[in-house]
Amino acid sequence: IEDDWPGEPSDQYWRQQLDQAEEELRQGSWSAAASRAGAAALRGSARARWLLARAADAEAEARRDNRLLTKAITSYLDVLKMNERLTDNRLLEVAQRTLDRIRFRGNYLSAEPVYRLLIRRFPDVAEYYNNLTVSFLMANRVDLADQVIKETLQKWPDDRFALAHHGFVLKTKHNRLEEAVDAFQKALEGDVGPATEPRFYYHLGDSLLLLGRYSEAQEVHKRGAALGHFLSPAQRSLYNVDRLKSQPWWNIEQTPYSNLARALEKSWKEILKEGETAKALYEQEKEGLKERGEWSQLDLFVRGQEVPNRCKRAPVTCGIVRAEAAAAGCRRGQVKFSAMEAGTHVRPHVGPTNCRLRMHLGLSNTKDTYIRVDQETRQWQVGKTLMFDDSFEHEVWHNGTGTRLVLIVDVWHPALSPAERRTLPPI
Ligand code: LMR
Ligand code: MN
Repeated sequence: IEDDWPGEPSDQYWRQQLDQAEEELRQGSWSAAASRAGAAALRGSARARWLLARAADAEAEARRDNRLLTKAITSYLDVLKMNERLTDNRLLEVAQRTLDRIRFRGNYLSAEPVYRLLIRRFPDVAEYYNNLTVSFLMANRVDLADQVIKETLQKWPDDRFALAHHGFVLKTKHNRLEEAVDAFQKALEGDVGPATEPRFYYHLGDSLLLLGRYSEAQEVHKRGAALGHFLSPAQRSLYNVDRLKSQPWWNIEQTPYSNLARALEKSWKEILKEGETAKALYEQEKEGLKERGEWSQLDLFVRGQEVPNRCKRAPVTCGIVRAEAAAAGCRRGQVKFSAMEAGTHVRPHVGPTNCRLRMHLGLSNTKDTYIRVDQETRQWQVGKTLMFDDSFEHEVWHNGTGTRLVLIVDVWHPALSPAERRTLPPI
Protein backbone atom coordinates (compact mmCIF):
# COMPACT_ATOMS: atom_id res chain seq x y z
CA ILE A 1 0.00 0.00 0.00
CA GLU A 2 2.81 2.36 0.91
CA ASP A 3 4.14 2.53 -2.66
CA ASP A 4 0.64 3.32 -3.71
CA TRP A 5 0.82 6.73 -2.06
CA PRO A 6 3.98 8.44 -3.28
CA GLY A 7 4.73 11.74 -1.62
CA GLU A 8 2.64 10.93 1.45
CA PRO A 9 3.87 11.61 5.00
CA SER A 10 6.46 8.99 5.75
CA ASP A 11 5.97 9.63 9.44
CA GLN A 12 5.07 6.35 11.12
CA TYR A 13 2.47 7.91 13.42
CA TRP A 14 0.39 9.57 10.70
CA ARG A 15 0.64 6.54 8.54
CA GLN A 16 -0.83 4.45 11.32
CA GLN A 17 -3.55 7.04 11.83
CA LEU A 18 -4.54 6.69 8.19
CA ASP A 19 -4.47 2.88 8.42
CA GLN A 20 -6.75 3.09 11.42
CA ALA A 21 -9.13 5.51 9.70
CA GLU A 22 -9.22 3.08 6.80
CA GLU A 23 -10.19 0.31 9.17
CA GLU A 24 -12.88 2.46 10.81
CA LEU A 25 -14.33 3.31 7.45
CA ARG A 26 -14.42 -0.35 6.52
CA GLN A 27 -16.38 -1.07 9.67
CA GLY A 28 -18.88 1.65 8.87
CA SER A 29 -17.66 4.16 11.45
CA TRP A 30 -17.51 6.98 8.96
CA SER A 31 -17.58 9.75 11.52
CA ALA A 32 -14.64 8.30 13.45
CA ALA A 33 -12.75 7.82 10.19
CA ALA A 34 -13.52 11.38 9.15
CA SER A 35 -12.29 12.99 12.35
CA ARG A 36 -9.10 10.93 12.30
CA ALA A 37 -8.34 11.68 8.64
CA GLY A 38 -9.36 15.30 9.09
CA ALA A 39 -6.42 16.10 11.37
CA ALA A 40 -4.77 19.39 10.43
CA ALA A 41 -1.41 17.72 9.92
CA LEU A 42 -2.94 15.59 7.13
CA ARG A 43 -4.30 18.50 5.12
CA GLY A 44 -1.77 17.96 2.34
CA SER A 45 -2.27 14.21 2.21
CA ALA A 46 -4.09 12.82 -0.84
CA ARG A 47 -4.74 9.61 1.03
CA ALA A 48 -6.40 11.53 3.88
CA ARG A 49 -8.54 13.40 1.35
CA TRP A 50 -9.58 10.14 -0.25
CA LEU A 51 -10.60 8.84 3.17
CA LEU A 52 -12.56 12.01 3.94
CA ALA A 53 -14.38 11.84 0.62
CA ARG A 54 -15.36 8.21 1.16
CA ALA A 55 -16.46 8.95 4.73
CA ALA A 56 -18.68 11.78 3.42
CA ASP A 57 -19.97 9.44 0.74
CA ALA A 58 -20.80 6.76 3.34
CA GLU A 59 -22.58 9.30 5.48
CA ALA A 60 -24.60 10.56 2.49
CA GLU A 61 -25.58 7.01 1.71
CA ALA A 62 -26.50 6.20 5.32
CA ARG A 63 -28.60 9.35 5.63
CA ARG A 64 -29.87 9.19 2.02
CA ASP A 65 -29.06 12.87 1.79
CA ASN A 66 -28.41 14.39 -1.64
CA ARG A 67 -26.88 17.54 -0.24
CA LEU A 68 -24.29 15.43 1.57
CA LEU A 69 -23.75 13.44 -1.61
CA THR A 70 -22.99 16.67 -3.49
CA LYS A 71 -20.45 17.51 -0.78
CA ALA A 72 -18.92 14.06 -1.10
CA ILE A 73 -18.61 14.53 -4.85
CA THR A 74 -16.84 17.84 -4.28
CA SER A 75 -14.47 16.04 -1.91
CA TYR A 76 -13.75 13.38 -4.52
CA LEU A 77 -13.04 16.11 -7.07
CA ASP A 78 -10.62 17.65 -4.55
CA VAL A 79 -8.75 14.34 -4.35
CA LEU A 80 -8.51 14.33 -8.13
CA LYS A 81 -7.05 17.82 -8.09
CA MET A 82 -4.08 16.24 -6.30
CA ASN A 83 -3.74 13.84 -9.22
CA GLU A 84 0.01 14.27 -9.49
CA ARG A 85 0.23 12.35 -6.22
CA LEU A 86 -1.93 9.51 -7.47
CA THR A 87 -0.62 6.41 -9.19
CA ASP A 88 -2.41 5.28 -12.34
CA ASN A 89 -4.33 2.63 -10.47
CA ARG A 90 -5.28 4.94 -7.65
CA LEU A 91 -6.38 7.63 -10.07
CA LEU A 92 -8.61 5.08 -11.82
CA GLU A 93 -10.10 3.95 -8.54
CA VAL A 94 -10.87 7.50 -7.40
CA ALA A 95 -12.17 8.51 -10.82
CA GLN A 96 -14.47 5.49 -11.08
CA ARG A 97 -16.04 6.16 -7.70
CA THR A 98 -16.39 9.86 -8.48
CA LEU A 99 -18.08 9.15 -11.80
CA ASP A 100 -20.34 6.57 -10.23
CA ARG A 101 -21.53 9.09 -7.65
CA ILE A 102 -21.91 11.84 -10.26
CA ARG A 103 -24.10 9.59 -12.38
CA PHE A 104 -26.14 8.55 -9.35
CA ARG A 105 -26.64 12.21 -8.44
CA GLY A 106 -27.56 12.96 -12.07
CA ASN A 107 -25.19 15.92 -12.18
CA TYR A 108 -23.59 14.93 -15.47
CA LEU A 109 -21.75 18.14 -16.25
CA SER A 110 -19.47 17.69 -13.26
CA ALA A 111 -18.08 14.54 -14.91
CA GLU A 112 -16.17 16.66 -17.40
CA PRO A 113 -13.08 17.43 -15.27
CA VAL A 114 -12.84 13.76 -14.32
CA TYR A 115 -12.84 12.60 -17.92
CA ARG A 116 -10.46 15.38 -18.95
CA LEU A 117 -8.07 14.17 -16.29
CA LEU A 118 -8.37 10.56 -17.44
CA ILE A 119 -7.82 11.66 -21.02
CA ARG A 120 -4.68 13.54 -20.04
CA ARG A 121 -3.30 10.58 -18.11
CA PHE A 122 -4.40 7.90 -20.60
CA PRO A 123 -4.46 9.66 -23.99
CA ASP A 124 -4.80 6.40 -25.92
CA VAL A 125 -8.06 5.24 -24.40
CA ALA A 126 -10.98 6.27 -26.64
CA GLU A 127 -13.46 5.11 -24.02
CA TYR A 128 -12.86 8.20 -21.87
CA TYR A 129 -13.62 10.48 -24.80
CA ASN A 130 -16.75 8.51 -25.58
CA ASN A 131 -17.97 8.46 -22.00
CA LEU A 132 -17.52 12.22 -21.85
CA THR A 133 -19.70 12.46 -24.94
CA VAL A 134 -22.38 10.42 -23.21
CA SER A 135 -22.19 12.61 -20.10
CA PHE A 136 -22.77 15.72 -22.20
CA LEU A 137 -25.69 14.08 -23.97
CA MET A 138 -27.19 13.07 -20.63
CA ALA A 139 -26.85 16.70 -19.54
CA ASN A 140 -28.64 17.71 -22.74
CA ARG A 141 -25.57 19.59 -23.95
CA VAL A 142 -25.49 18.41 -27.54
CA ASP A 143 -23.20 21.34 -28.40
CA LEU A 144 -20.52 20.13 -25.98
CA ALA A 145 -21.00 16.50 -26.99
CA ASP A 146 -20.55 17.54 -30.60
CA GLN A 147 -17.10 19.00 -29.83
CA VAL A 148 -15.91 15.90 -28.00
CA ILE A 149 -17.14 13.68 -30.82
CA LYS A 150 -15.11 15.73 -33.27
CA GLU A 151 -12.00 15.47 -31.09
CA THR A 152 -12.54 11.72 -30.87
CA LEU A 153 -12.97 11.24 -34.61
CA GLN A 154 -9.90 13.34 -35.30
CA LYS A 155 -7.87 10.85 -33.26
CA TRP A 156 -9.79 7.73 -34.19
CA PRO A 157 -11.67 8.27 -37.47
CA ASP A 158 -13.09 4.73 -37.39
CA ASP A 159 -14.28 4.68 -33.80
CA ARG A 160 -17.73 3.16 -34.16
CA PHE A 161 -19.14 4.53 -30.94
CA ALA A 162 -18.11 8.08 -31.87
CA LEU A 163 -19.37 7.61 -35.43
CA ALA A 164 -22.80 6.50 -34.23
CA HIS A 165 -23.10 9.44 -31.86
CA HIS A 166 -21.87 11.72 -34.60
CA GLY A 167 -24.70 10.41 -36.78
CA PHE A 168 -27.16 11.03 -33.98
CA VAL A 169 -26.06 14.64 -33.51
CA LEU A 170 -25.98 15.30 -37.27
CA LYS A 171 -29.53 13.99 -37.60
CA THR A 172 -31.26 15.30 -34.51
CA LYS A 173 -29.43 18.60 -34.07
CA HIS A 174 -28.34 19.72 -37.52
CA ASN A 175 -30.75 17.83 -39.78
CA ARG A 176 -27.75 16.87 -41.95
CA LEU A 177 -29.31 13.60 -42.97
CA GLU A 178 -26.96 12.39 -45.73
CA GLU A 179 -23.93 12.80 -43.50
CA ALA A 180 -25.81 11.16 -40.64
CA VAL A 181 -26.55 8.15 -42.85
CA ASP A 182 -22.85 7.84 -43.79
CA ALA A 183 -21.79 8.00 -40.15
CA PHE A 184 -24.38 5.44 -39.02
CA GLN A 185 -23.53 3.09 -41.86
CA LYS A 186 -19.85 3.11 -40.94
CA ALA A 187 -20.71 2.66 -37.26
CA LEU A 188 -22.98 -0.33 -37.93
CA GLU A 189 -21.06 -1.99 -40.74
CA GLY A 190 -21.29 -5.77 -40.49
CA ASP A 191 -23.67 -5.41 -37.53
CA VAL A 192 -20.82 -5.72 -35.05
CA GLY A 193 -19.22 -3.46 -32.51
CA PRO A 194 -20.21 -1.14 -29.68
CA ALA A 195 -22.73 0.90 -31.68
CA THR A 196 -25.06 -1.97 -32.55
CA GLU A 197 -27.88 -0.63 -30.42
CA PRO A 198 -31.57 -0.43 -31.32
CA ARG A 199 -31.63 3.36 -31.34
CA PHE A 200 -28.86 3.68 -33.91
CA TYR A 201 -30.62 1.28 -36.28
CA TYR A 202 -33.77 3.27 -35.65
CA HIS A 203 -32.10 6.59 -36.46
CA LEU A 204 -30.33 5.21 -39.52
CA GLY A 205 -33.62 3.84 -40.89
CA ASP A 206 -35.46 7.03 -39.98
CA SER A 207 -32.82 9.21 -41.69
CA LEU A 208 -33.24 7.12 -44.83
CA LEU A 209 -37.03 7.47 -44.64
CA LEU A 210 -36.70 11.23 -44.23
CA LEU A 211 -34.49 11.29 -47.31
CA GLY A 212 -37.06 9.25 -49.22
CA ARG A 213 -34.56 6.38 -49.64
CA TYR A 214 -37.26 3.84 -48.89
CA SER A 215 -35.71 0.60 -50.11
CA GLU A 216 -32.48 1.24 -48.21
CA ALA A 217 -34.57 2.03 -45.14
CA GLN A 218 -36.42 -1.24 -45.54
CA GLU A 219 -33.11 -3.15 -45.60
CA VAL A 220 -31.99 -1.49 -42.37
CA HIS A 221 -35.34 -2.24 -40.73
CA LYS A 222 -35.06 -5.90 -41.71
CA ARG A 223 -31.53 -6.03 -40.34
CA GLY A 224 -32.62 -4.35 -37.11
CA ALA A 225 -35.52 -6.74 -36.65
CA ALA A 226 -33.36 -9.79 -37.41
CA LEU A 227 -30.95 -8.63 -34.71
CA GLY A 228 -33.83 -8.29 -32.24
CA HIS A 229 -33.56 -4.50 -32.06
CA PHE A 230 -37.12 -4.03 -33.37
CA LEU A 231 -40.25 -6.05 -32.69
CA SER A 232 -40.54 -6.43 -36.48
CA PRO A 233 -39.37 -4.48 -39.55
CA ALA A 234 -42.58 -2.42 -39.43
CA GLN A 235 -42.91 -2.09 -35.63
CA ARG A 236 -39.91 -0.07 -34.56
CA SER A 237 -40.82 1.55 -31.25
CA LEU A 238 -37.92 1.47 -28.79
CA TYR A 239 -39.81 1.45 -25.47
CA ASN A 240 -41.61 -1.85 -25.47
CA VAL A 241 -43.16 -4.50 -23.31
CA ASP A 242 -42.29 -7.61 -25.27
CA ARG A 243 -45.22 -9.93 -24.78
CA LEU A 244 -47.94 -7.56 -26.00
CA LYS A 245 -50.11 -8.58 -28.90
CA SER A 246 -49.01 -6.71 -32.02
CA GLN A 247 -51.20 -5.78 -34.95
CA PRO A 248 -51.37 -2.59 -37.02
CA TRP A 249 -55.14 -2.11 -36.99
CA TRP A 250 -57.45 -2.99 -34.10
CA ASN A 251 -61.14 -3.68 -34.04
CA ILE A 252 -62.36 -1.53 -31.16
CA GLU A 253 -65.17 -3.95 -30.38
CA GLN A 254 -62.53 -6.54 -29.52
CA THR A 255 -60.92 -4.24 -26.97
CA PRO A 256 -62.20 -2.97 -23.61
CA TYR A 257 -62.60 0.47 -25.22
CA SER A 258 -65.90 0.11 -27.09
CA ASN A 259 -67.74 2.23 -24.50
CA LEU A 260 -65.22 5.01 -24.92
CA ALA A 261 -65.55 4.81 -28.70
CA ARG A 262 -69.35 4.88 -28.53
CA ALA A 263 -69.34 7.88 -26.18
CA LEU A 264 -66.98 9.79 -28.47
CA GLU A 265 -69.03 8.96 -31.55
CA LYS A 266 -72.26 9.96 -29.83
CA SER A 267 -70.87 13.41 -28.94
CA TRP A 268 -68.81 14.03 -32.06
CA LYS A 269 -70.58 17.29 -32.94
CA GLU A 270 -69.86 18.86 -29.57
CA ILE A 271 -66.30 17.55 -29.71
CA LEU A 272 -65.87 19.09 -33.16
CA LYS A 273 -67.16 22.41 -31.87
CA GLU A 274 -64.74 22.31 -28.92
CA GLY A 275 -61.85 21.50 -31.24
CA GLU A 276 -62.74 24.34 -33.60
CA THR A 277 -63.36 26.98 -30.94
CA ALA A 278 -59.90 26.48 -29.46
CA LYS A 279 -58.10 26.97 -32.80
CA ALA A 280 -55.92 29.84 -31.52
CA LEU A 281 -54.21 27.49 -29.07
CA TYR A 282 -53.03 24.88 -31.57
CA GLU A 283 -49.29 24.33 -31.97
CA GLN A 284 -47.46 23.49 -35.17
CA GLU A 285 -46.07 19.97 -35.37
CA LYS A 286 -42.31 20.46 -35.27
CA GLU A 287 -40.77 17.00 -35.28
CA GLY A 288 -40.10 17.30 -38.99
CA LEU A 289 -42.55 14.52 -39.79
CA LYS A 290 -44.39 16.28 -42.56
CA GLU A 291 -42.88 16.38 -45.98
CA ARG A 292 -45.22 19.19 -47.05
CA GLY A 293 -48.31 20.99 -45.77
CA GLU A 294 -49.53 22.25 -42.42
CA TRP A 295 -50.26 20.19 -39.36
CA SER A 296 -51.00 21.44 -35.86
CA GLN A 297 -52.18 19.93 -32.63
CA LEU A 298 -53.83 20.86 -29.35
CA ASP A 299 -52.89 18.69 -26.37
CA LEU A 300 -55.55 18.01 -23.75
CA PHE A 301 -53.82 15.21 -21.81
CA VAL A 302 -50.10 14.48 -21.92
CA ARG A 303 -48.47 11.51 -20.20
CA GLY A 304 -51.59 10.80 -18.21
CA GLN A 305 -51.99 14.38 -16.94
CA GLU A 306 -54.45 17.06 -17.96
CA VAL A 307 -52.75 20.06 -19.53
CA PRO A 308 -53.56 22.92 -17.11
CA ASN A 309 -56.56 25.03 -18.16
CA ARG A 310 -57.15 23.11 -21.37
CA CYS A 311 -60.18 21.10 -20.34
CA LYS A 312 -62.08 24.31 -19.61
CA ARG A 313 -62.00 24.75 -23.38
CA ALA A 314 -63.14 21.24 -24.13
CA PRO A 315 -65.37 20.09 -21.25
CA VAL A 316 -67.38 17.52 -23.18
CA THR A 317 -64.29 15.93 -24.71
CA CYS A 318 -62.42 15.84 -21.41
CA GLY A 319 -65.47 14.50 -19.58
CA ILE A 320 -65.65 11.52 -21.91
CA VAL A 321 -61.91 10.92 -21.67
CA ARG A 322 -61.93 11.11 -17.86
CA ALA A 323 -64.54 8.35 -17.73
CA GLU A 324 -61.93 5.93 -19.15
CA ALA A 325 -58.96 5.66 -16.78
CA ALA A 326 -56.91 3.85 -19.42
CA ALA A 327 -57.15 6.99 -21.58
CA ALA A 328 -56.98 9.83 -19.03
CA GLY A 329 -54.22 8.02 -17.14
CA CYS A 330 -52.25 6.73 -20.13
CA ARG A 331 -48.78 7.92 -19.15
CA ARG A 332 -47.36 6.70 -22.43
CA GLY A 333 -49.68 8.73 -24.62
CA GLN A 334 -51.70 11.86 -25.20
CA VAL A 335 -55.19 13.09 -25.91
CA LYS A 336 -55.15 15.82 -28.55
CA PHE A 337 -56.91 17.45 -31.46
CA SER A 338 -55.00 17.10 -34.72
CA ALA A 339 -55.68 19.58 -37.52
CA MET A 340 -54.23 18.92 -40.94
CA GLU A 341 -54.48 21.25 -43.94
CA ALA A 342 -55.20 20.06 -47.45
CA GLY A 343 -52.06 19.06 -49.35
CA THR A 344 -50.26 17.69 -46.31
CA HIS A 345 -48.18 14.53 -46.45
CA VAL A 346 -46.84 13.04 -43.22
CA ARG A 347 -43.83 10.85 -43.87
CA PRO A 348 -43.66 7.22 -42.73
CA HIS A 349 -42.76 7.17 -39.05
CA VAL A 350 -43.33 5.20 -35.84
CA GLY A 351 -44.36 6.14 -32.31
CA PRO A 352 -42.04 5.53 -29.36
CA THR A 353 -43.81 2.67 -27.57
CA ASN A 354 -45.95 -0.42 -28.09
CA CYS A 355 -47.69 0.19 -24.75
CA ARG A 356 -50.52 2.29 -26.17
CA LEU A 357 -53.15 2.00 -28.85
CA ARG A 358 -54.27 5.09 -30.67
CA MET A 359 -57.94 5.88 -31.21
CA HIS A 360 -58.97 8.53 -33.74
CA LEU A 361 -62.37 10.18 -33.94
CA GLY A 362 -62.99 11.75 -37.37
CA LEU A 363 -64.39 15.28 -37.02
CA SER A 364 -64.21 17.22 -40.29
CA ASN A 365 -63.08 17.14 -43.95
CA THR A 366 -62.14 13.49 -44.00
CA LYS A 367 -62.85 13.07 -47.71
CA ASP A 368 -59.72 12.12 -49.68
CA THR A 369 -57.60 11.77 -46.57
CA TYR A 370 -55.75 8.52 -45.93
CA ILE A 371 -53.80 6.81 -43.20
CA ARG A 372 -51.57 3.84 -43.92
CA VAL A 373 -50.52 1.68 -40.97
CA ASP A 374 -48.01 -0.98 -42.03
CA GLN A 375 -49.54 -2.50 -45.19
CA GLU A 376 -53.12 -1.33 -44.90
CA THR A 377 -54.49 2.11 -45.77
CA ARG A 378 -57.80 3.30 -44.34
CA GLN A 379 -59.86 6.49 -44.31
CA TRP A 380 -61.46 8.51 -41.55
CA GLN A 381 -65.17 9.14 -41.46
CA VAL A 382 -66.77 12.03 -39.66
CA GLY A 383 -68.30 10.88 -36.38
CA LYS A 384 -66.56 7.47 -36.50
CA THR A 385 -63.63 6.06 -34.55
CA LEU A 386 -60.81 3.87 -35.69
CA MET A 387 -57.95 2.35 -33.75
CA PHE A 388 -54.38 1.48 -34.62
CA ASP A 389 -51.05 0.77 -33.00
CA ASP A 390 -48.81 3.71 -33.82
CA SER A 391 -45.65 1.75 -32.98
CA PHE A 392 -46.11 0.34 -36.50
CA GLU A 393 -44.94 2.46 -39.37
CA HIS A 394 -47.68 4.84 -40.48
CA GLU A 395 -48.11 7.61 -43.03
CA VAL A 396 -50.84 10.19 -43.65
CA TRP A 397 -52.08 12.08 -46.73
CA HIS A 398 -54.59 14.88 -46.97
CA ASN A 399 -55.46 15.04 -50.66
CA GLY A 400 -58.85 16.66 -50.03
CA THR A 401 -59.98 20.16 -49.21
CA GLY A 402 -60.41 22.08 -45.95
CA THR A 403 -58.93 21.36 -42.52
CA ARG A 404 -59.12 17.72 -41.54
CA LEU A 405 -59.76 17.57 -37.81
CA VAL A 406 -59.51 14.41 -35.72
CA LEU A 407 -59.43 13.79 -31.98
CA ILE A 408 -56.60 11.45 -30.98
CA VAL A 409 -57.07 9.42 -27.79
CA ASP A 410 -54.27 7.10 -26.69
CA VAL A 411 -55.18 4.23 -24.37
CA TRP A 412 -53.07 1.68 -22.56
CA HIS A 413 -52.58 -1.53 -24.49
CA PRO A 414 -55.30 -3.79 -23.05
CA ALA A 415 -52.84 -6.54 -22.08
CA LEU A 416 -50.86 -4.33 -19.67
CA SER A 417 -51.45 -5.20 -16.03
CA PRO A 418 -52.60 -2.61 -13.47
CA ALA A 419 -49.10 -2.74 -11.93
CA GLU A 420 -47.50 -2.01 -15.32
CA ARG A 421 -49.88 0.90 -15.92
CA ARG A 422 -48.82 2.31 -12.56
CA THR A 423 -45.10 1.79 -12.86
CA LEU A 424 -43.98 2.02 -16.50
CA PRO A 425 -41.98 5.23 -16.89
CA PRO A 426 -43.96 7.89 -18.77
CA ILE A 427 -43.25 8.76 -22.40
C1 LMR B 1 -50.11 10.20 -36.47
O1 LMR B 1 -50.25 9.68 -35.36
O2 LMR B 1 -49.02 10.37 -36.98
C2 LMR B 1 -51.30 10.65 -37.21
O3 LMR B 1 -52.30 9.77 -36.95
C3 LMR B 1 -51.67 12.00 -36.79
C4 LMR B 1 -52.82 12.54 -37.56
O4 LMR B 1 -53.21 13.65 -37.22
O5 LMR B 1 -53.33 11.91 -38.47
MN1 MN C 1 -47.75 9.31 -35.75
